[in-house]
Amino acid sequence: MNGLTTYCTDILIIGSGISGLSAALRLAPFYRVILISKDILNKGASYYAQGGIAAVFDENDSIDSHIEDTLVVGAGICEKNTVEFVISNAKKCIEWLVDQGIVFDKEVTKTGIVKYHLTREGGHSYRRILHHADATGKEIETKLINLVLNHTNVLVKEFCVAIDFIILNEIGLSNSTRVVGAYVFNKKHKQIETIKAKAIILATGGAAKVYKYTTNPDISSGDGIAMAWRAGCRVANLEFNQFHPTCLYHSQSRNFLLTEALRGEGAYLKRYDGTRFMIDYDYRCELAPRDIVTLAINKEMKFFDLDCLYLDITHKPAVFIKEHFPNIYRKLIKLGLDLTKDYIPIVPAAHYTCGGVVVDHTGMTDIKNLYAIGEVSYTGFHGANRMASNSLLECLVYAWSSSRNIIKTIKDIVNVPVLPDFCKKIDVFNEHIVIQHYFRELRLSMWNYMGIVRTTECLEKALYYISLLQQNVFYYTKFYISNDLLELRNLVQVSELMVRCALARKESRGTHYILNYPKKIKNSGPTILVP
Ligand code: FAD
Ligand code: SIN
Repeated sequence: MNGLTTYCTDILIIGSGISGLSAALRLAPFYRVILISKDILNKGASYYAQGGIAAVFDENDSIDSHIEDTLVVGAGICEKNTVEFVISNAKKCIEWLVDQGIVFDKEVTKTGIVKYHLTREGGHSYRRILHHADATGKEIETKLINLVLNHTNVLVKEFCVAIDFIILNEIGLSNSTRVVGAYVFNKKHKQIETIKAKAIILATGGAAKVYKYTTNPDISSGDGIAMAWRAGCRVANLEFNQFHPTCLYHSQSRNFLLTEALRGEGAYLKRYDGTRFMIDYDYRCELAPRDIVTLAINKEMKFFDLDCLYLDITHKPAVFIKEHFPNIYRKLIKLGLDLTKDYIPIVPAAHYTCGGVVVDHTGMTDIKNLYAIGEVSYTGFHGANRMASNSLLECLVYAWSSSRNIIKTIKDIVNVPVLPDFCKKIDVFNEHIVIQHYFRELRLSMWNYMGIVRTTECLEKALYYISLLQQNVFYYTKFYISNDLLELRNLVQVSELMVRCALARKESRGTHYILNYPKKIKNSGPTILVP
């Protein structure tokens, strides 16, 4: 069963979100690409994106203003040159997306000019978000997947889970730390495959699944961060987990997002008695950055011992609501809630991993020819708190810059002749129920001990608990392979890195709020962990 199939390609892309698909389409005209995805292609966070993509398209807006807003929302620790790099390349990357057939909503102005309808979200000084109604991710993913599937130079492999990278010095062929391939678990055939490649792009998304409550799909288990760390890459800023303020609170649907664009178009956050509370917390009220809104909700819920708070857009015309938010409207109707008439119950939930694998402006990690792009990476763009709709933008810009660098450098790279077989047993593990218990325990303790508000004591408790789990998981992974076990191994690893980053930061900043150190400290920078 082991190492039966070996593939050989120019570029291996791991992940089929907006970053992986965009990179595949940029590289495929020139080189052979294998793109793998651990589930069906549209299972990543990208498909679920609602609000849209931020970029300067309004004539009154400016690149300087987008840069300034990103730096402010990032709470003082964004890397300024990265922010400038991403935002100055935004427009051309979005135009590339439009050239691929992606449609963004348009409007006709009073003077008869047709232009993009730009919506607004927290932290943005201008209307700056291009969107496709309230289902921007679905529009992008569906069209890009179609293009990739029809490209003769791309071999697409669904249900294939990357396990670990193969690094040249580790297999004794040279002392270079260059990536030469990856081991992959094919879930359908239940076998390990080896994929040789001259360059690898890691585009595996974030790690919000470490938390019990999240807006993310199941696949967001931090695989890429854990794999890159095991291979020897630095990671940074993993203490900054962004909690989205408005996740639906409903017994039949616990992870449905209510886009920030609702507040951008006028929705209020309210207590059950109809009073608005954001006025008491920040001058920007409902459009304050997410970390501030989330902390305010958390405080209200704890102070008044509430299960949830409410989002109210009923003061807007029903026609407007249904036109701008058709998918959310339909979803809520199925659950017995009417967005045009009812207060909608909300709670915060884990949404976005601001930190990740350290990369440069080409997306290159510390390992030669290994790139990381999208939510898996740390570029310095988001600092301590990501501004709304800046993630899809970062994915697009780094898909472009990494592809450009690969095209420049790949001519001089040759695939290695032979790679060693992977030797572990597969799926004969009969204790799946134990794995499920570990999952639940880990995600609950991260929610309780490393949640919206932290303390040093709770973080230490989390670390102790994680160390116990690590021993058990290590024991099992010595012998068996299954998708759940691989995910658990990665989640435990990433949780440990997150807690270590959180313990290292002796201040509160952005999404990291710790009671022992409630103030910001001067001259603070990123938290970088070295393997
Ligand atoms: P993803 O889209 O998450 O894709 C990851 C891919 O990697 C998947 O295909 C997955 O199957 C694959 N994968 C993972 N591990 C492995 C493995 N071990 N082996 C093989 N394949 C693997 N951002 C915005 O800018 N604007 C928005 O409007 C917006 N709305 C959002 C709404 C929701 C509900 C959520 C959850 C997020 C939203 N975000 C938004 C954030 C944004 O969607 C994500 O940050 C972004 O889509 C990440 O893209 P990605 O390509 O990096 O990863
Ligand atoms: C949303 O639509 O509220 C999510 C936007 C984002 O995460 O950037």
